[in-house]
Parts: sequence; structure tokens; C-alpha cells
Amino acid sequence: MVEFKKFENGFEYVEVSNNAARARIALQGAHIFHFARTNEEPILWLSDTSDFEIGKALRGGIPLCWPSFGMNNPDLPQHGFARVGMWRVENHREIDENSTQITFTLNDTKQSRELWNHSFLLELKVILSETLIMELTTTNLDDKPFKITQAFHTYFQISDISNIAIEGLSDKPYLDALTDKHHVQKGDITFFEEFDCVFQEVGSEILLIDKNSTISIKNEGSSSVVVWNPWIEKCKRMSGMRDDAYREFVCIESANAFEDFKILEPKEYHTLKATIC
Ligand code: BG6
Repeated sequence: MVEFKKFENGFEYVEVSNNAARARIALQGAHIFHFARTNEEPILWLSDTSDFEIGKALRGGIPLCWPSFGMNNPDLPQHGFARVGMWRVENHREIDENSTQITFTLNDTKQSRELWNHSFLLELKVILSETLIMELTTTNLDDKPFKITQAFHTYFQISDISNIAIEGLSDKPYLDALTDKHHVQKGDITFFEEFDCVFQEVGSEILLIDKNSTISIKNEGSSSVVVWNPWIEKCKRMSGMRDDAYREFVCIESANAFEDFKILEPKEYHTLKATIC
């Protein structure tokens, strides 16, 4: 079932539900801010201080970073503008009683062309079942090529930052964004300080291992993965989160970032796909 809803301040979202799962997706940013399997805890973290403000990105869920990841394009706002753009629901359908598909679209506008002077179609296809599948397709509708970097900036809910490990990135080269130095990851990732790294040459499944659960993330059309936790001091400085919120989430971001950028010729398209289960 797909229901169109809004909060008291007019902030619009769709609630997608079937026998297997439920999701809430804001029209602003096509931002998935809730995903839970039936009778289970949410898989995504959403800040409990989120005020669903129009024009401001939500803290948590899955912000879409596009057409620039971070400050990869210094002329654009951090993480681009799609996460605060107003998307449309293009279509939706029940695949079966456990599975629903919904597609959102975003086109360039006068305001987007002032920031980034290109004509584009951006489509987010979401398939909701016990698994969450997202496909973000960028089509160049312009008569000149353009370059994008992007990410599903997924905030995962965890029991506690001290309990988790991330598997699947061992031996991968990475840029430590905190020191601007390149290294190679040795072993699984655990957390004891601020962590902000961009892994490259990633082609296989990533596992988020928690005390009582494991989440699998598989990416296609992507070879970069960003892992981020702000830890104590940065968390205090961040907008939209409590001072100790860093204990409750980790971001594992399915990306085309830094060297993994994409250049699209006119009419060309690229799909970034992530499967979370
Ligand atoms: C991550 C970056 O992707 O996003 C971090 O690696 C950044 O450096 C974080 O702090 C949050 O960004 P924002 O713009 O949502 O506050």
C-alpha cells in the first residue's frame, strides 16, 4: 500500500507498506527516513531531534548526495542539492503482498541551473520488501557532458558504536578524509574515535555486524564506499543530533565518490544501486 501523508507543518511523505516491511519516504529529497521489517526494530537511524523542516536535509535515514558527494564539487553545497529538492512520485505498484515498487523523479529547475547549469533526469526506484533495493539513475538530458559524484548516505541504527564491526573492506585502499592521507585497510573496522574514510575499489558485499544482527549491503554501479561516524566532539558540533547520538548510528554510504566519479555524455545514463538486507 502507498499512502500520501503530511506532518502538521506541511512536510509531505509517502508511507509504503506490505506484509514484509514498512518505509516512510519524504518527497523532499526522496529521502527514505524509515525502513523496518514487520515486527522488527528500524534498520535506519533517524535523529530524534529531526524536525522535518522544509528546505533542510533530515538527519538520518538515507539522504541522497547528488550531483556532488561531500565537497567533491566545491561550487555546490555540501552533498549537492538533490537531498532538499522537491521530488515527484512517478508511479508505484504492488509486486506481490510482500513487495512494493515506487519511483520518484527530479528534473532540473531554474534554481538548480543557477547552482549547476545542466539539464538532467534523476530517478529513484525503491523496491520495498524484507530487503530494501534502491536504484538511482541519472540521465544527461543536456547537449554537453557532465560529471557527477553521489551517494546513498545511509545511517544505520546500531545497538552501540562499541558493539559493531564492518566486514568486507579489508585490503581496500582508502582516503582518510580527516588527515587527507591514503592507506590500505587491514582487517575489519571497529570504532574508538572519529572515522571518516572513503574506500575505493570495492566490489563485494559489506557486512555490518552488531551484537544480535547482521546487515548486508551490496552495491552495483559503484566502487566507492564511505564509512563515517562523527564521534564525541564532532557530534556536539553537528546540526540535528543529540550530543551522544554518535553511539546509535554508523553511516555506510554506497557511492560514486572521489576517483569513482562518473562523466555522462548527452543522453547517457548511469545507475547506482544498493541492496540492503
Ligand atoms: C559524510 C562525510 O558523508 O557526511 C562527513 O564523510 C560529513 O565528512 C557527513 O560530516 C555529514 O554531512 P552533512 O552535510 O549531512 O552534515
